[in-house]
Amino acid sequence: MADSTSTEAQLNTTASGENDRKTKRPKIVNVRPEDNLIIREENTKDAAERSAIHSINEAAFGGPDEADLVDKLRAEGVVLVSLVAEIPERIVGHILFSRMSIETAAGSVSAVAVAPMAVLPKHQRRGIGGRLIHHGLNLLRNRGEHIVIVVGHPDYYPRFGFSSEKTRSLESPFPQDAFMAMELSPGVLDGVRGVVRYPHAFGI
Ligand SMILES: CC(C)(COP(=O)(O)OP(=O)(O)OC[C@H]1O[C@@H](n2cnc3c(N)ncnc32)[C@H](O)[C@@H]1OP(=O)(O)O)[C@@H](O)C(=O)NCCC(=O)NCCS
Repeated sequence: MADSTSTEAQLNTTASGENDRKTKRPKIVNVRPEDNLIIREENTKDAAERSAIHSINEAAFGGPDEADLVDKLRAEGVVLVSLVAEIPERIVGHILFSRMSIETAAGSVSAVAVAPMAVLPKHQRRGIGGRLIHHGLNLLRNRGEHIVIVVGHPDYYPRFGFSSEKTRSLESPFPQDAFMAMELSPGVLDGVRGVVRYPHAFGI
C-alpha cells in the first residue's frame, strides 16, 4: 500500500514530471444530500409520512397553522396534488395544490391554489422549493388544469411564471403584489373577471 507521501507526489506530478497541483489534483466533488433528491406524490395511506409533512410545515412556518391547514384541506377533499421532496430516507419538503374557483358573472371558473409550501429550514435555498413548484405545475398541466393562483412572496413566485398582473381582474382580500396567478394555457385568464373562492379550510 502506498504511503500518503508517495500518493501525494503521484497526484501532484504532471506527465512531464513537474509538480503541478492544478493539473493533477483529483477533483473533490462535494455530494450534498439534496443531490439525491426525488420529488414524488405523497403516499396518502402512510401515517408516518403525513406526520412528517405536518412537522415540515410546522418547522418551516414556525407554528402549527399551515400544518393544520394541510390536514383540513385533506378532510375537505379538495387536494389535487400533494408532493414531497425526499432525500434518502427523509422527507424535507412539501407542497400542496387544492381546488379553488373564480366566480364570474358567466359562472364558475376552475383554478388551483398553491398552499402551503414548506422546506425544512436546514435544507432551504438549495433549489428544493423550486423543484417542488416545477414538478407540481407540470403535473397540473398534464392533468388539464389551466389556472394556478398563489398568495406569497412577490420576489419568489414570479421566477416560475406567476404574476400579479394576471390577478388584476380578480377580487380577493390579499395585497395586490402578493396575489399572483399563472396561466398554464396562455390567455386563459383574458376577460375573466370575478371573485376568488378558496376552500373553506383557508377560512377566507
Ligand atoms: C419559501 C420556501 C418554500 C422556498 O424553498 P427553498 O427550497 O428555500 O427555495 P429555492 O431554494 O428553490 O429558492 C430559494 C429562493 O427562495 C427565495 N426565498 C426564500 N424565502 C423567501 C422569502 N421569505 N421571501 C422572498 N424570497 C424568498 C430566496 O431568495 C432564494 O432565492 P435566491 O436563491 O435567488 O436568493 C422556503 O424558504 C420555506 O419553507 N419558507 C418558509 C415557509 C414559507 O414561507 N413558505 C412559502 C409561503 S408563500
